[in-house]
Amino acid sequence: MSNSNYILELKDISKNFGGLQAINRLSFQVEKGLIFSIIGPNGAGKTTAINLITGIYPPGSGDIFFEGQKLIRKRPYQVAHMGIGRTFQNIQVFRNMTVRENVMVGLHTKSHSGFLKCLLQTPMVRKEEKIIRQKTDETLKFLDLDSKADLRVAGLPYGDQKRVEIARALAMEPRLLFLDEPVAGLNLQETKEMSRTILKIREKGITIILVEHDMNLIMGISNIITVLNYGEKIAEGSSKEIQNNPKVIEAYLGKEF
Ligand SMILES: Nc1ncnc2c1ncn2[C@@H]1O[C@H](COP(=O)(O)OP(=O)(O)OP(=O)(O)O)[C@@H](O)[C@H]1O
Ligand SMILES: [Mg+2]
Repeated sequence: MSNSNYILELKDISKNFGGLQAINRLSFQVEKGLIFSIIGPNGAGKTTAINLITGIYPPGSGDIFFEGQKLIRKRPYQVAHMGIGRTFQNIQVFRNMTVRENVMVGLHTKSHSGFLKCLLQTPMVRKEEKIIRQKTDETLKFLDLDSKADLRVAGLPYGDQKRVEIARALAMEPRLLFLDEPVAGLNLQETKEMSRTILKIREKGITIILVEHDMNLIMGISNIITVLNYGEKIAEGSSKEIQNNPKVIEAYLGKEF
């Protein structure tokens, strides 16, 4: 157990890939209900940090706590069941399925009905299906995707596709949500919509850990920002503190500035 005032705590996490130190003794604490952003130059270790927390691979050393419970050595599906959702830097949606099907797939991985029971269509399975359908439709409505529920994802604008991926994560009712570059590749209008969507998710009381290169978005909506460079935390603070931090400026622009 650990101090559970924080929804997430990383303590001295390190990870190397071969000879490369991708994360070096990283520690941070995330307060509930905030938008906590992680920024840093390409290759700084942002996605690796998310992958370590969500169980994609184990850290080399260190500890991670979610609501006071140890996360180390949990598998990705266990992490998801504990209440942590995520989206991926390289969008992961089933392009040939509809919007609704994409969201339902996520909920099916969480359902209790095994394959055989599904084939037999027991009353329990039918009830579960109904709940899954309801949760899916609520989530689609929340993300303004309800009018597109029956459309194939492949034909949708990229901004909608990104929201489908978020919908799949949200339908599982996470208390902590990781968004890895949610506005990369979006146009200005889509970026504004995504910004509103992220704020709406925070209003629900869900804690968000946001990784982004779009500094307008980061500075506009983050409650607190952590900066990584070469796998190490070099700064943490409000957007104003981060923008004026010489170490951060140097990491982004090089020493000559
Ligand atoms: N599975 C892996 N195997 C080997 N090296 C990896 C692996 N994942 C990441 N790395 C390396 O670790 C470092 C950190 O990568 P990471 O993807 O975490 O960076 P990032 O901060 O997310 O960058 P970007 O902003 O470009 O997405 C990079 O040097 C990367 O090449
Ligand atoms: Mg990344």
